[in-house]
Amino acid sequence: MLIAKEIKCPYCHVLTIAKDGNKSEGIQNQRCKNCRRQFIRDRGISDQGAFPWTASCGHPLPSFGTDSIGKEIEDRYEVAMIARNFVVFEGGDGSGTTTQIKLLRQRFERKKPEKQLPSLWTTCEPTDGAIGALIRSALRGGLALQAGTLARLFSADRSEHVFAQNGVIDRCNRGELVVSDRYVLSSLAYQGIGCGDALPKALNEEFPAPEMLFFFDIEPEIALKRMENRRIREIFEYLDFQVKVRERYKALLPWYEEKGTITITVDAAKTPDAVAEDVWKALKNASLLKTAYES
Ligand code: TYD
Repeated sequence: MLIAKEIKCPYCHVLTIAKDGNKSEGIQNQRCKNCRRQFIRDRGISDQGAFPWTASCGHPLPSFGTDSIGKEIEDRYEVAMIARNFVVFEGGDGSGTTTQIKLLRQRFERKKPEKQLPSLWTTCEPTDGAIGALIRSALRGGLALQAGTLARLFSADRSEHVFAQNGVIDRCNRGELVVSDRYVLSSLAYQGIGCGDALPKALNEEFPAPEMLFFFDIEPEIALKRMENRRIREIFEYLDFQVKVRERYKALLPWYEEKGTITITVDAAKTPDAVAEDVWKALKNASLLKTAYES
């Protein structure tokens, strides 16, 4: 017998009808009828403490605020694999993600005294850790690697970035706003070209999706022109490749939306200040900032 049951969406907090109401326990995929975002509801786990979720790799997933309604069954639901407070900037080379991270940091420094803004942690991939250094050397052509090896290094670097102490998950859980210059979508867009889609997808399955993703969209010709004066040209910085990267990003965005990530495409050909304004307008809707701006 299917019992329709109302549960509260962990994103928009509107009551929505739970599907698969005939199961008395276990994991159920849900999609909120109001905001359309997906989350996972796990029933019958109320005795397992505040962080009942464990990904298949054994890493604890972030907690997104548990909730329970109804007396007969305690419902606990987590937004599966969505890391709240985690924001990602993505785009082709020369699209300005690094500049935008810098401008965002400056904005936070200016605004913090006037608003109760959360702590901001800006970070990047490849990271400045040991695996990241190896990757950078390969990107500069100093180390010749198979495409599949590079894909594996990117995901190993990411694993440290996300799951290590004081890494992305730790900080998101502490209530910091974490903004990363590149993440999983870079691997899917770039490595997919060199070694096919299957390997990067498999290597990146365990990583939680960000709450928000900004795609900095720009004609590759314009982007590469911006980089003309750089002394070192990296292995992916040529036109044919960047044209493919842009196409792949556009094709991959719905994949993230499906997971529940809010994706925003920004016109990255505008001036850095104009782009920064567009980013800020959208970013104010991130759960952490919304609170500051509503108060
Ligand atoms: P980028 O942020 O553009 O570095 P820089 O500041 O040195 O210009 O990133 C370095 C390159 O690494 C860029 O060409 C994209 C590529 N990349 C991947 O191919 N896969 C990945 O998973 C990541 C994170 C980056």
